[in-house]
Amino acid sequence: DPLNFSGVWRFRELLPFAPREMVVTVGEGQTLLQSADKVAQYVGMTPGNLKLQYEGMNPSGSFKDNGMTAAFTHARMVGARRVACASTGNTSAALAVYCSATDFGFKAIIFIGSGKIAYGKLAQALDHGALTIQIVGDFDDAMHRVRQVADRLGIYLMNSVNPFRLEGQKTIMYRVLEGLGWEVPDWIVVPGGNLGNSSAFGKAFIELKHLGLIDRVPRLAVINAAGARTLEYLVSEHNLTWRDGLPDMAASQTYYDELDAKHLKASTIASAIEINRPVNLKKCLRALDFCQGVVRQVSDQEIMDAKARVGSGGLGCEPASAASVAGAKKLREEGIIAPSDRVVCILTGHQLKDPTATVAYHGTDQENFEKVLGSRGVHRAGFANR
Ligand code: F0G
Repeated sequence: DPLNFSGVWRFRELLPFAPREMVVTVGEGQTLLQSADKVAQYVGMTPGNLKLQYEGMNPSGSFKDNGMTAAFTHARMVGARRVACASTGNTSAALAVYCSATDFGFKAIIFIGSGKIAYGKLAQALDHGALTIQIVGDFDDAMHRVRQVADRLGIYLMNSVNPFRLEGQKTIMYRVLEGLGWEVPDWIVVPGGNLGNSSAFGKAFIELKHLGLIDRVPRLAVINAAGARTLEYLVSEHNLTWRDGLPDMAASQTYYDELDAKHLKASTIASAIEINRPVNLKKCLRALDFCQGVVRQVSDQEIMDAKARVGSGGLGCEPASAASVAGAKKLREEGIIAPSDRVVCILTGHQLKDPTATVAYHGTDQENFEKVLGSRGVHRAGFANR
């Protein structure tokens, strides 16, 4: 069965909205749960107890393909042609791939904010021939604009406000469980931006528990970058939970005004998650509630240090992805995660998405070159300069 070559559609019984002849797939989701003993050591875990779910292996190089295949399938079912998204880069890369690699007449329209898109991602959108529109403003402004435009012009919206995106992203958790022999881990740790992944993961566990396929759920840790910490702020300062019945858009706006007044809207090197108005806030709060979740923020330094450790452990990821590892380390240091817990960190995007951040971190100091070569080997050059 060709659908079994998709790591999403081989779980099609759990994605019942799509008739099989309508499926739009580019072979997404063939990703693996990887052992990572060097990273475990860095985080402070017993070796073997930390694993990395490496979603950078997807055709467009990030986890977004899991959601895109489902949303494109739905778009095909309703006869959509023009499809649009706002993006910090990975959603747009995935959208561009699905339009260019398939034959159903899809036209890609992408809105990006000014200045903050990693070049690897922009290159993908351009190479795959997407109409790419840069607006004045940040991701949240681009998101606002694309929602308006899509609504007015009848363009199909591919951001994670689209519930079919989240359906596809549930399968990341199915593959994690599969990798663990369907033993439920103690923790899932995931970076939080627009909060689509965390929402989808929560939904996956709610449904699996309901179906009796698992008897308990893991705890969920959502990690914000310190420069885009809306969720962390609302949960830690306001104890905001799903049980409060919040927030509808009006209530959210009060919080957002407060965030603005406190100048909490900053920036982060993890440009993928530089998002201050997460569209899935409410769904994420539900996931946190069901999975006894916690939320933390990590600094750019913590993110880049963790990223270098992931890289030297053999896998490689982009900055936003490393927030999961940095967050696990923080929770371990706080004693919330125990060394013997079984922890899975989600690596959401490929190392080559944002080479600029990596090269800047490791440095290229010409003067030290010979000295370093003479002593510790060229591959250590970056660290030797610090
Ligand atoms: N990691 C990476 C590499 C991302 O690209 C994103 C989101 C996230 C984490 C956050 O995931 O939104 O589900 O909480 N990138 C979006 C984009 C917003 O436009 O590519 P989330």
